[in-house]
Amino acid sequence: MEKRNLRKKALVDDLRNSRKVSDLRFDEFYPLEIRKLSQTHWTPVAVALRATELMATNRKTRVLDVGSGCGKFCTVAALSGHGQFFGVEQRPHLVDIARKVAQELGATQASFIQGNMVDQDWSFYDAIYLFNPFYENVMESIRIDDTVSHSEENYRSYIRTVQTKLQDAQAGTKLLTYHGFGGEMPLGYLRVRKEPIGTSYLEVWVKLDLPHDVDWKLR
Ligand SMILES: C[S@@+](CC[C@H](N)C(=O)[O-])C[C@H]1O[C@@H](n2cnc3c(N)ncnc32)[C@H](O)[C@@H]1O
Repeated sequence: MEKRNLRKKALVDDLRNSRKVSDLRFDEFYPLEIRKLSQTHWTPVAVALRATELMATNRKTRVLDVGSGCGKFCTVAALSGHGQFFGVEQRPHLVDIARKVAQELGATQASFIQGNMVDQDWSFYDAIYLFNPFYENVMESIRIDDTVSHSEENYRSYIRTVQTKLQDAQAGTKLLTYHGFGGEMPLGYLRVRKEPIGTSYLEVWVKLDLPHDVDWKLR
């Protein structure tokens, strides 16, 4: 137990100082069945650190991780950056684990809401993070479990919901994607960054303040 506490202290210290931390070191604090899903489903630490840096958060910034899983993104972000990091996750058992690990690591600025992202009011947030959350609907081989329903219809409708919520977002809202979210960005968003990282790209988009009475066809 003592050794685990020492490792935890060193891990938190490294993250608070934005030092590199391997996924193996971070994932140790999750149960084995969650660790096994890490490579496919949870944001790598290096990606979460870079995304947090690119979001340029301050103490008041509110960030929503859409489909927060076991809370890895929010927990790393809360330990390494400023701001308040909220995750919404449909699977209750993942929310329980996310809360437990965030608490154990002292990530007080990370919190988790159990529910469907469809029912959340995204206007409360300054930045949105998406790591391709709906893909398991159309890729049977990577399904986390069968506690939720999967279908192509879900996939299409979730993507439409994201697009609508992004369209309704306030000017200045930032969107970060890792592996995209499965759909096209709605008009009115400017991509300000695209950089290779992990197994894909991190993309940063900003909602522009455009007049509503113009039919904008250019991006
Ligand atoms: C690829 S994992 C990403 C986890 C986390 N964002 C991270 O980066 O570490 C996607 C997660 O989204 C969740 N999810 C998928 N559709 C959802 C929905 N409609 N509402 C809430 N959560 C959803 C899944 O249960 C899964 O845990």
